[in-house]
Amino acid sequence: MKIRESGMPEAALWHTFFDPETILNAMELTGDVRDAVEFGCGYGTFAIPAAKRIRGTLHCFGIDPAMIEISKRFAKQEDVRNVSLCIRDFMVHGTGLKKASVDYVMLFNILHAEDPMRLLREANRILAPGGHLAVIHWNCDPRTPRGPPMEMRPLPEKCRQWIEEAGLAIEKALIDLPPYHYGILARADREIPFHICQKQKAKRE
Ligand SMILES: C[S@@+](CC[C@H](N)C(=O)[O-])C[C@H]1O[C@@H](n2cnc3c(N)ncnc32)[C@H](O)[C@@H]1O
Repeated sequence: MKIRESGMPEAALWHTFFDPETILNAMELTGDVRDAVEFGCGYGTFAIPAAKRIRGTLHCFGIDPAMIEISKRFAKQEDVRNVSLCIRDFMVHGTGLKKASVDYVMLFNILHAEDPMRLLREANRILAPGGHLAVIHWNCDPRTPRGPPMEMRPLPEKCRQWIEEAGLAIEKALIDLPPYHYGILARADREIPFHICQKQKAKRE
């Protein structure tokens, strides 16, 4: 099931909204990372530069065959070979990756999904202890040139709440990614903080 408002403008226009290298630096994606994942890679805007940085494989999942094809062409053009671009509905099937098998997960411009917890729980499941979750999203500012409708855009505090509920620990609560985005960095921490356990327990009761 395609996430609401996950359509994109033409690749050339989309690429003008970001400086992927600056964003990946701010989101601390370094050569220490072995395998990584991007949920919903679009045109490969971040996936291809990210794959160049890491030591292992970047697993990318997307529901739209045309976008996967464009990402494949982008990878070829950049001679990037450590990227796996897979057509898969992760809302229905998850990633299919092994538990605790990757070091870094990218949820970029996607947490306005109907069910963000499904994405975050899957991210937490596949992350190895100490691995990182990187979230970026459009600022909640109606002047941004794109992005989901304002009523769907998650505020950073909402994202942090979901991230913690999924069992991850917030490491950097707010990273400014001018001109249009913010970021949050979290760590897969099997030791869930006490107050989160209490919250989760209260929800179950
Ligand atoms: C707004 S775009 C973000 C693309 C990329 N992360 C970026 O920031 O450049 C959302 C992406 O998620 C993909 N997508 C939406 N729903 C999906 C689903 N259920 N399973 C897999 N991919 C999905 C869309 O096809 C698109 O590639």
